[in-house]
Amino acid sequence: MNNSDRQGSTRRSFLARLSIWIGGLAVGGGVFAALRSLIPNVLYEPSKKVKIGTLDLIPDGVTLFKDAKAFVSKHGSEGKTRIHAISAVCTHLGCIVQHTESEESKSGTTDKPTVGFSCACHGSQFTIDGDVVKGPAPEPLPWFAVSVSPDDGQLVVDTSSVVERHKALLVLKSGHCNVRKV
Ligand code: FES
Repeated sequence: MNNSDRQGSTRRSFLARLSIWIGGLAVGGGVFAALRSLIPNVLYEPSKKVKIGTLDLIPDGVTLFKDAKAFVSKHGSEGKTRIHAISAVCTHLGCIVQHTESEESKSGTTDKPTVGFSCACHGSQFTIDGDVVKGPAPEPLPWFAVSVSPDDGQLVVDTSSVVERHKALLVLKSGHCNVRKV
């Protein structure tokens, strides 16, 4: 074999190896794409149903539950406890509102206590039931469904379920509960 034959043979074997590599990469890429297509492109969002604890662990009055972005109001008398949840998301541009009480209410110098919610972003104010007192918020704060989980007895705020305003969960001393207009 002379020198030019040897060079031709080396070039042919290099080209053969190169084409095997390119072919391998193409097949590998195709297999990867086929396997990747079997995995769904799912965006996992947090559940809209948020457990907030059992009734005895929920403080009386109005409490912000940050995970649910909702205020839960608990009031009770004569063996009946009333629970309802109001969105804490301002209907203007989505800031979290704060539970507020006027200075007069705090000091007891008024017999008409003014409590409600206010938004620090642009000054909207809402009554304790979520009605707009002062804009720019265009809508009242929605009420969310509240239920008792059959699994563990925890209360569940369902932020995907807006309910008729003034509908609360009534929990009786016996443990029975139902939804009532309040
Ligand atoms: Fe609440 Fe603008 S986001 S007033």
